[in-house]
Amino acid sequence: MSQAVSYDLNGAIAVLTISNPPVNALGLAVRQGLVAGIEKAEADAAVKAVLIIGEGRTFPAGADIREFGKPPVDPYLPEVVLRIEACNKPVVAALHGTALGGGLEVALGAHYRIADKAGRIGLPEVNLGILPGAGGTQRTTRIAGAKATLDLATGGKPIGADNAHALGIIDRIAEGDLKEAALAYANELIATGTASRPSGERREGLADEAANLAAIEDTKTTLAKRARGQFAPFRIVECVEAALTLPINEGLAFEREQFLKCMETPQRQGLIHAFFAERTCTKVPEASRAEPRPLNQIAVIGGGTMGAGITVAALNAGLPVVMVERDAESIARGQANVEKVYDGMVKKGRLDEAGKAKRMALFASATDYAALSDVDLIIEAVFENLEVKQDVFRQLDQVAKPGAVLATNTSYLDVDAIANVTKRPQDVIGLHFFSPANIMKLLEIVVPANPADDAVATGFALAKTLKKTPVRAANADGFIGNRIYKAYGLCATYMMEDGASPYEIDKAIYDFGYPIGIFQVHDLAGMDISWANRKRLAATRNPLERYSAVQDKICEAGHFGQKTGRGMYVYPEGARKGEPNPDVLKVIAEEQARLGITPRDFTAEEIMRRYMAAMVNEGAKVLQENVALRPSDIDVVALYGYGFPRYRGGPMKYADMYGLENLLADLRAFEAEDAYFWKPAQLLVDLVENGRSFEDLNKES
Ligand code: 3HC
Ligand code: NAI
Repeated sequence: MSQAVSYDLNGAIAVLTISNPPVNALGLAVRQGLVAGIEKAEADAAVKAVLIIGEGRTFPAGADIREFGKPPVDPYLPEVVLRIEACNKPVVAALHGTALGGGLEVALGAHYRIADKAGRIGLPEVNLGILPGAGGTQRTTRIAGAKATLDLATGGKPIGADNAHALGIIDRIAEGDLKEAALAYANELIATGTASRPSGERREGLADEAANLAAIEDTKTTLAKRARGQFAPFRIVECVEAALTLPINEGLAFEREQFLKCMETPQRQGLIHAFFAERTCTKVPEASRAEPRPLNQIAVIGGGTMGAGITVAALNAGLPVVMVERDAESIARGQANVEKVYDGMVKKGRLDEAGKAKRMALFASATDYAALSDVDLIIEAVFENLEVKQDVFRQLDQVAKPGAVLATNTSYLDVDAIANVTKRPQDVIGLHFFSPANIMKLLEIVVPANPADDAVATGFALAKTLKKTPVRAANADGFIGNRIYKAYGLCATYMMEDGASPYEIDKAIYDFGYPIGIFQVHDLAGMDISWANRKRLAATRNPLERYSAVQDKICEAGHFGQKTGRGMYVYPEGARKGEPNPDVLKVIAEEQARLGITPRDFTAEEIMRRYMAAMVNEGAKVLQENVALRPSDIDVVALYGYGFPRYRGGPMKYADMYGLENLLADLRAFEAEDAYFWKPAQLLVDLVENGRSFEDLNKES
């Protein structure tokens, strides 16, 4: 037997135990071991039933994703599942942990399923740009109907064992030890002479034809919006439709065909890249060298937009928070900001009053910094002003206990300039949250000149507690995200001045897969913020940098976006979706006339070619300056902080797929019109010269 699947006899039961840590993924050795195990059990007359169980933390969590993209090797998973299903002795699968994707499909190949109470099952393939390709859509539909299958396979979210039991996907819930309960189940089947029961021959799920057809139609409608631009979700619907009408072997063949089509898509590459990227970003040198410090209580200084959001994120994670503000009035407002978030959740039915009370019981407030003397980590979120922040850190230095981590949520300021006003710069890091901080998953962990390793590790531990996705960034202007955002923001502004209307640009960005366009983002965030930043930087701006005054002019007229009802768009009373603002087009025309620009047409394709070139080129500069550890970290920043469409993997992955030589050729062409903005990053030039990719750099990191 293969090492990945052991074969033991327990009375008349052959027990196949899968052992392929960490998640028992169904790699080649496991697949071979399962087939060999079934064959051995069939050949042994003394064996009357088979039990398949996973060792360690879980039943298989799916196919081995690392094998995707490589030439497939026999036996394929669909064949393995068919082999299990065809076993002439009853096969029981005992599920615990996360029986996902191919793992659930193996279980569906078995004739009976028992699950641990805490187990979860799911068909999350859609999150990887593929679909259940080993019979998942066909067998689940036959057992549980179209709605359950579509929810599982297009939603991609696992469900608890109890729910799966209610749907008929799981036959029994184990009380107590899973293996013992599963052996008892198998012995019962033997004792009662219960035969094999192939899922492919079941029909319970097909009985209610009207409900099944309605589920198909409903899902199509929901997906049109939710899965805009994606390939796999719509193929899943087709597979479930096929399950309703075709015999099982034809249904399986159809599913396989769709699975292979999905495998060929760039979306599959993008989504799998994202899966690994978001796991790799937690691997940083500091955290590999040191354990995090204890994190039992934190404090937040400032109860404004960010302070309140960070507080909610911590309270939601069960972490007690002390909020400190300047005075009684401000702290009352800070607390109200927190409660407002919870009241909104209660109103939407996402939280009940008891849930709110439970969270608020972890909240304390103060106007005296003395209240900070016992906390483990302090996050400063006061005004974006260096003197104000330095003053706060001087005070923190006086009151914080030795070893407390002191963090700033600054967007742009120099973290060393803040750390160095304290006598403990080794304890200071940046924790750059994104707004709304209770929702946005990204957390940039900014590493200044000399922090202690365990201070940085504590930042990563906090991210884990808050269920955020952390990315390590060096202490440089705009860190990773805002710096790249600035570059493609400028690119959009230049295109606007050269003749593409902001609405054409936003539409191209939306059609590319972003939730909204960049000018809509400006309106949402408030154009006054970037205006203030431009004014702050005016004196130090490089004279070679092209400057567009269009947005300044809109701001000068008092139009800042949604909050003033007018910005790049106009927002009729109460509207959240804007209409084009004719004043903006007028200002653009005036600026074009003033600068002697003859406006020209841009296709959506050219808009995105420029937008992406600007983004990737700045990403390459961020890498060559060691602001980011690896290209995939930049992708994570774009995906989790800036709405980059996940199915495209992130800008650096996009660039690899587009071809770095093509991207460099674009930059060279644009460079002719603006040598300052479009100058290619040296790293990009080097990569192209050496025939290398960003993925090569990921592998080296
Ligand atoms: N294949 C290969 N490696 C996998 C894997 C898989 N299916 N699932 C997880 N891993 C790896 C992770 O990359 C990670 O590796 P690392 O330690 O080197 O970074 C390690 O296992 C542990 O994973 P997590 O850090 O994610 O551990 P968690 O406990 O947080 O989560 C999990 C466990 C819920 C199983 C999560 O890993 C997960 O969602 N995995 C993917 C599940 C999935 O998508 N399954 C479907 C696969 S496609 C399929 O089955 C096709 C079939 O239909 C034909
Ligand atoms: P805000 O203006 O909403 O809140 C700042 C709060 O700090 C106010 O409530 C103010 O009373 C309080 N404060 C000022 N001085 C203080 C002091 N000495 N002690 C205690 N409290 C004090 O500002 P916002 O938007 O929350 O930003 C805070 C920080 O977060 C800034 O550094 C900003 O750059 C950064 N940031 C902002 C993001 C955003 O989208 N708003 C995103 C990421 C970071």
